[in-house]
Amino acid sequence: MTADTQPKKKSIIGKLTIIIVAISIIILLYLVSPFLLGNGTPKYSNIEDHYKYGSIGGEEANGIPYWIWKVLPEMFPDKLPGEGYTSLGFIQEPGHDLPIGFAQSKMLFNQVGQNCATCHAGSLRDTPDSPRKIITTMPSNTVNLGAYIQFLSDVAIDKRFTADYMMPEIEALGANLNPLEKLVYRFFVIPQTRDGLITLRSNFAFLDRQSAYGPGRVDTFTNYKTRLFGVAPEDIPPEELNGIADFPSVWQQKPREGMQLHWDGNNTSVNERNNSAALALVTEETINFDAIHRVADWLWELPSPAYPYEINSELAATGQPIFENNCASCHAFDGVKVGTVIPIEAIATDPGRLDSYTQEFLEKQKTLFEGISYRGEDQQFRHFTKTNGYATMPLDGVWLRSPYLHNGSVPTLKDLLETPENRPQEFYRGYDVYDPENVGFVSDVAQEDGKQYFKLDTTLPGNNNSGHLYGTELSNSDKTALIEYLKTL
Ligand code: HEC
Ligand code: HEC
Repeated sequence: MTADTQPKKKSIIGKLTIIIVAISIIILLYLVSPFLLGNGTPKYSNIEDHYKYGSIGGEEANGIPYWIWKVLPEMFPDKLPGEGYTSLGFIQEPGHDLPIGFAQSKMLFNQVGQNCATCHAGSLRDTPDSPRKIITTMPSNTVNLGAYIQFLSDVAIDKRFTADYMMPEIEALGANLNPLEKLVYRFFVIPQTRDGLITLRSNFAFLDRQSAYGPGRVDTFTNYKTRLFGVAPEDIPPEELNGIADFPSVWQQKPREGMQLHWDGNNTSVNERNNSAALALVTEETINFDAIHRVADWLWELPSPAYPYEINSELAATGQPIFENNCASCHAFDGVKVGTVIPIEAIATDPGRLDSYTQEFLEKQKTLFEGISYRGEDQQFRHFTKTNGYATMPLDGVWLRSPYLHNGSVPTLKDLLETPENRPQEFYRGYDVYDPENVGFVSDVAQEDGKQYFKLDTTLPGNNNSGHLYGTELSNSDKTALIEYLKTL
């Protein structure tokens, strides 16, 4: 080495050091920018928009980076039943980037997560040609969560889920990532998301062992067992599978405070029911209590939507005393037995949902939110109990809660007043055209414009349409009058 190359080398090293330090500072600034600049998560001043599109804290825990979420249906149309996420029953409103029930958070990158409206916002058409009316807080009658989970599980193990395949497709969508973002996407975001979806796939591996949810239903507790408590899906005993629950409506929570609710009546506290529902999407660490309480405050006295079709008021008046004599004790807001549990032997509906909620699970669940408080109130779960049946509930807005019973196994009110052998053994779910005659959604349409609806087979485990014989012995004219009255609730 000569005397004059020495200082030159030093200056190269010096320059390199400066460049490396500069790049590090840029990366660091980039990483902390969401916090420095205030986070860019959209906030909605309108409560209904907040409900449909606002974050409840799920993106950090279970979110999918925005551009990956966007590109998946483009890259893997073969794994979807139709075009895009709406083919899974999610509702896309014009002028919105994401379907109802999906929220965005600006973290290091935009992440897409879900909120209450995923399971509690539905749609209705008067006729097949009518416009779709969106009704927030009714059960998500069209959304097929099982199929969404299946889609994410399938793409996770596809060999095209690599940066080499995905980056050009993301660019083609107009992502316009800067060079640094491209690097981070390539070496960090894509592989990490893939790993996350592979974990999701293994947590939901129990889906292969049980009846399909189809639209409007989910297995409430099995995925808690695998995701939150580390139980291996293959270790879930067969008798605990098939705890499939129909999405309930969530309006008017105030008069429900203190009632034993959830389908099996396992919890009397509205606040815990809200937090517990949120845990489908968030974790104890990421839950956004402010966002959830904004929803909860709105739901508190929100009335159920009025029946939009004609009601024969004379006939309904004839039906009222029939309701009072046969149903009110269990289903009126002031009924002596409303919000209590009817033992399984007496109600005799499908036991799957009841059996999926076990004492062992309850013990673990009680540890959730330990030491976490909000508005000065300790959030630890204290109100869950193991029950021996299904709960009676107020029937406000019952016309919109079809298909009926905890497992959504009976399509219309007319069918519910038939004895089980005369209820439909098979019917279709996910179609949102209303049937005012039988009161519920039309359930005999298998497909529409190439879209296949879900056939619910009541002979499969978890789908049994037995039990709840109340009113089945009424005369036909009494049944007609009772149904007319039920429309007014
Ligand atoms: C993944 C779907 C899903 C999401 C997301 C979800 N819920 Fe639910 N929710 C359900 C199901 C299913 C039940 C019925 C649970 C059962 O008893 O098995 C339920 C029950 C409830 C109940 C009790 C209803 C009753 O009368 O028994 C309330 C209240 C509720 N959810 C509120 C919320 C709120 C608030 C959010 C958002 C923070 C939310 N849910 C998010 C699926 C969901
Ligand atoms: C002894 C109490 C009791 C009586 C009386 C009773 N029910 Fe029920 N009802 C229940 C229980 C418990 C459930 C939940 C069962 C399940 O989902 O497995 C239920 C569920 C329902 C549902 C489904 C609600 C939903 O959101 O899916 C409807 C509708 C209903 N009952 C209507 C009636 C009508 C109409 C009458 C009178 C003819 C009646 N019930 C009488 C206990 C009762």
